[in-house]
Amino acid sequence: MNTFGNNYRVSVFGASHGAVVGVLLDGVPAGIALSEADFEADLKRRAPSSIYETARREEDKPLILSGVYNGYTTGAPICIEFRNSDQHSSDYKAFAHTPRPGTADYPAMVKYDGYADLRGSGPFSGRMTLAMVAAGVVAKKILPQELAFKSEVVELGGTSDRSLWEGLLDGARKDGDSLGAVVSCTVEGVPVGLGEPFWDSCESVLAHLIFSIPGVRGLEFGDGFRASAMRGSEHNDPIGPLGPLKNGSGGINGGLTNGAALSLRVAFKPTSSISKVQNTLNLQTHQREDLSVRGRHDVCFALRCPVIVEAACAIALAELFKD
Ligand SMILES: Cc1cc2nc3c(=O)[nH]c(=O)nc-3n(C[C@H](O)[C@H](O)[C@H](O)COP(=O)(O)O)c2cc1C
Repeated sequence: MNTFGNNYRVSVFGASHGAVVGVLLDGVPAGIALSEADFEADLKRRAPSSIYETARREEDKPLILSGVYNGYTTGAPICIEFRNSDQHSSDYKAFAHTPRPGTADYPAMVKYDGYADLRGSGPFSGRMTLAMVAAGVVAKKILPQELAFKSEVVELGGTSDRSLWEGLLDGARKDGDSLGAVVSCTVEGVPVGLGEPFWDSCESVLAHLIFSIPGVRGLEFGDGFRASAMRGSEHNDPIGPLGPLKNGSGGINGGLTNGAALSLRVAFKPTSSISKVQNTLNLQTHQREDLSVRGRHDVCFALRCPVIVEAACAIALAELFKD
């Protein structure tokens, strides 16, 4: 289904080239000041701005349709929608029967028997993360205000040396190719004890949200995969009077937050839609064909993802905080 959560319930709807992308939020307490202006800063961080990001330019203006009255939340479900206006749907006619490798095209064409609206990747598009960012903005307002979210790209094209990034991006762009990146996120001020021992462990809830972001390929908490090469004496976090003294476990032990900052790293794949020639199957003729994806695509969509990862964390925490 397309609804997440019990305490903070988030439903997304719409499609990349449909009339709107939107989100319906339930479980938001009454009396929180909320206006369209509150969304500006985070939406701007998600919007494309450089030559390495899509040339599609949308206003991304939130329209609050319900749940807010006189500038405050009412306790009723909040519906927010974003009108699409800069679609170039004809760019996608070429892929009606030739799925673009790496995208949702092939499984969606098979699963929905040709009925899915895959213009601009439809409901699988990175554009759906507008809804996620909007839900994150409201989640950040519900959560205790002392929580501090911080996120950034820390690795691009396999290197953390920032001086190399522009050259790598230019090279990929000239080659009609793309790059992936790693985004780190920390949340400071999280109290001890959020999460449940098993299915709703804090990592499980966070992972559910993080892996809902299109294009995510990996997630690490604290030392992450490096922990498997460490000794216990190295990985364990000694405990002081104010909690853990280092953060190898990323702020979670036994599925419960331990008072240290939540600390995670998210691996994003390189953009699938590339103009470099690839091979695919024509589902009508059953012949293999070459395909070059024209249209407007991010060379490295992960550049736009730090705020989306923050939103995922905020939604997860809003779900886990149960007064
Ligand atoms: C903000 C954002 C922008 C994206 N832009 C593109 C894009 O321009 N072209 C593309 O092929 N994929 C893009 N993606 C990734 C696809 O949506 C994703 O790869 C696709 O739906 C398949 O899902 P999967 O990679 O999780 O398997 C973007 C993702 C995000 C989060």
